[in-house]
Amino acid sequence: MVELTKRVLVLCALPYVNNIPHIGNIVGSHLPADIFARFCRLKGYETVFIGGSDENGTPSEVTAQKLGITPKQLCDKLYKIHKKIYDWFWISYDNFSRTSKPIHHKTTQEFFLKIYENGFISEGTLVMPYCPRCKRFLPDRYVEGTCPYCGYEKARGDQCEKCGRLLDPDQLINPRCAICGTTPIFKETKHLFLNLDKLSDKLEEWIKSNKHWKEHVVSLALGWIKEGLKPRCITRDLKWGVKVPIEGYEDKVFYVWFDAPIGYISSTKEWAEKIGKPDEWKKFWKDKGALIYNFLGKDNIPFHTIFWPGMLLAHGEFNLPYQVVGLNYCNYEGGKISKSKGWGIFCDKIIEADVDVDIWRYYFTWLIPETKDTEFKWKEFVERINNELVANLGNFIYRTLSFIWKYYDGKVPEPKEYDERDKEFEEFIKNSPEKVERLLEDVRLRDGLAEIINIAIEGNKYFQEKEPWKDKEKARTAIFLSVNLCKTLAILMWPYLPKSAENLWKMLNIDEKIEWKNAGKITIMPKHKINESKILFKKLTDEDVERLKKLVTKPTPLEEIFGGENVISFDEWKKVDIRVGKVLKVEDMPQTKKLYKLQVDFGELGVKQAVSGLKGYYKPEELEGKQFVFLVNLEPKKFFGETAEVMILAAVKDDKVVLIKPEREIENGARIE
Ligand code: 2FM
Ligand code: ZN
Repeated sequence: MVELTKRVLVLCALPYVNNIPHIGNIVGSHLPADIFARFCRLKGYETVFIGGSDENGTPSEVTAQKLGITPKQLCDKLYKIHKKIYDWFWISYDNFSRTSKPIHHKTTQEFFLKIYENGFISEGTLVMPYCPRCKRFLPDRYVEGTCPYCGYEKARGDQCEKCGRLLDPDQLINPRCAICGTTPIFKETKHLFLNLDKLSDKLEEWIKSNKHWKEHVVSLALGWIKEGLKPRCITRDLKWGVKVPIEGYEDKVFYVWFDAPIGYISSTKEWAEKIGKPDEWKKFWKDKGALIYNFLGKDNIPFHTIFWPGMLLAHGEFNLPYQVVGLNYCNYEGGKISKSKGWGIFCDKIIEADVDVDIWRYYFTWLIPETKDTEFKWKEFVERINNELVANLGNFIYRTLSFIWKYYDGKVPEPKEYDERDKEFEEFIKNSPEKVERLLEDVRLRDGLAEIINIAIEGNKYFQEKEPWKDKEKARTAIFLSVNLCKTLAILMWPYLPKSAENLWKMLNIDEKIEWKNAGKITIMPKHKINESKILFKKLTDEDVERLKKLVTKPTPLEEIFGGENVISFDEWKKVDIRVGKVLKVEDMPQTKKLYKLQVDFGELGVKQAVSGLKGYYKPEELEGKQFVFLVNLEPKKFFGETAEVMILAAVKDDKVVLIKPEREIENGARIE
């Protein structure tokens, strides 16, 4: 019988790019997804690890509005910052896309049209909050108020962040506009709905069939089914997002939680295109038997157990998640991580802190909130690094390799006869991968790491008992076995500590690939030459900690990141020279559709030439003899052979162009200040 290779698609919840990631974001999805994806690759499973940024809808719009920039400016810059951080942490995405890309917009629209054809979309009117001051509807994050379930005062229009419930805006108590604080009025508007009510039975059956899910995920999901699923609105009165491809909805976009999960598919498609096999994505989304693992925070659980699977069931052609790894929250020194309160650890600073990535990855693995909320504590950080990572794992590896280097010329010694203890230890090496493997298959990542540390502890115990330093001849067997355990450790630790594992692999100087099936095997043979051993992990000193405490707890405010974006300083403003000039003569540039050539009198500055796109808006006689406003210190530029020395200023809105005139005659060349 041919054994089929397991096929695994690992998906990490697509982060909003309206903030700088903090440790909670790393340990709450990217890191666990990465550890698991690396494990699957080591096992030889056909593995693809997909992510991307979630850029549409109110999360970006509201943040951009508060910063006085466009959502595109916000997302372009923050995407780069996010990507740099995940790369720094060795998060091994096969593709990290963006939901602002055309491939995603197209995939979302096609997905929608299919569920529309399948009869799972209906139209209805909603009574939505409308801000009379901002003159706009207030979807999702544009409106805040008190959660009717848990009393949290900053609940949003679509979800309460505190208790995780999905909300409709009219359920909020004391609603207010998030931009200006005005109490909204409620007005009717037409929207599209996903008929979750029609999907309830199928969803329930599917949830119950997932016997391998964690208890808390199943009970949350069944709880919502029990409460009764209602049609859920999937359109919004916004500009920034994916357009709704049917008549009557030209001014609306899809709800961000409608398009975001489709981002998993579009990012997989993009990956397939990038590797030159454009249909390859279907193997993961359409072939039965592919296993999809979703990693996400607990507030995302309703979307990944009800809303998104509902969309997939309504569509009918794609695989549903196999495992929904819903993680709890990670706190910081007794409180919730909060950027505004400056409480937590922030990744833009971590990557500048000159501390090895695996030091963070090691402690962060302990913080993965698999079963309950966890908490970063400086004291625990130092203890775990110094007493476990350095004193056990690092120490065992270093003492073994440096022994070979020092006493056997860097060549693995030939073992002598085995005593009982050696035999037992050889057996231990062979069996060591099995337990770690079971835990990782079950996505019990912390337990997997604990087991690896236990293996290193066993290694140290054996080394200590054998006292190789006493008799280098007698020590041969112990060192021979120990170096083989080092190889196994390199493989087992690769998902968690990839950089150090690869360094260790280089020190061991072996030709094998880092593959799970090579773990537990005694394959490093006598006389094999290793490379010089270096210390893999360094202890954290008190000074390190003091320095880190100051650095990594202070995130760069978004205002600072975007400070230069749309703002000019007074000094820069002083450089801008805007003056009144009188148009003397206007000539057509017949070879162009829009341009006129203008001669303009600026008094003592002389006559200067402008090339202006005013054809179709103004006739030459409407301009000649009149004063307008010009920018005069531009670097000269040629258009169709004519030099523009100055630029006429106009107010432009959509397809309207209106010139600016001084409201009384003034001397030509007068400066605007
Ligand atoms: O909570 C969040 O950060 C969301 N942007 C997660 C989206 S997950 C997926 F559906 F894209
Ligand atoms: Zn609530």
